[in-house]
Amino acid sequence: MSVKLAIVYYSSTGTNYQLAQWGAEGAKEAGAEVKIFKVQELATQEVIDRNPAWKAHVEATKDIPVITPDDIVEADAIIFSTPTRFGNMAAQMKQFLDTTGGIWFHGKTVNKVVSAMTSAQNAHGGQEATILNLYTSMYHWGAIVVAPGYTDASLFAAGGNPYGTSVSVDQNNQIVGDKEAYQKAVKHQAKRVVTVAEWVKKGMQ
Ligand SMILES: Cc1cc2nc3c(=O)[nH]c(=O)nc-3n(C[C@H](O)[C@H](O)[C@H](O)COP(=O)(O)O)c2cc1C
Repeated sequence: MSVKLAIVYYSSTGTNYQLAQWGAEGAKEAGAEVKIFKVQELATQEVIDRNPAWKAHVEATKDIPVITPDDIVEADAIIFSTPTRFGNMAAQMKQFLDTTGGIWFHGKTVNKVVSAMTSAQNAHGGQEATILNLYTSMYHWGAIVVAPGYTDASLFAAGGNPYGTSVSVDQNNQIVGDKEAYQKAVKHQAKRVVTVAEWVKKGMQ
């Protein structure tokens, strides 16, 4: 019985969508059934249109389905990816989490195996805080947080964030540094999530 993994991201300019895609690659290689979802955009089209990169990204990802609480119920495991916004997740991601009160109330978020990734503009711009802040909500869900720690050499080459893979982006929204190293770290993180979700799923049968 394969693990059902939902990758849930928010992205204005494509970075976290890229992280989500790398996560999907790793999870598929580990044998999971993977679906990528975006969270509902909250900004108005007028605001988006003022930023060409944002506008282009929204257009390029218009066919990605928007996550619903039912998709969380369906999944065994979830990997989140969100930009760092003032050291926290993007409001769009938080708004989605705040729609999971109903499934939380019915115990449907319990034992979900979860992990998170992020990006920020500065090397020390709050990446770790963002992931930890997102994990706080996961403890309230009763989820099982599976951070990468230092479980693979790829993590050291990707900046060594043990809470979840994080990247920095430049003024042109391009990932700074060795993209391949980040891809490897994300794939490792996703594989680790799938492995632990398999253990949990088998244990609950
Ligand atoms: C309102 C706002 C707040 C931000 N706060 C931070 C921050 O605290 N630290 C930082 O390094 N970058 C910050 N950024 C930059 C974003 O993290 C960066 O644009 C994002 O990681 C790019 O991801 P995306 O391409 O997936 O949208 C902020 C951007 C916005 C719009």
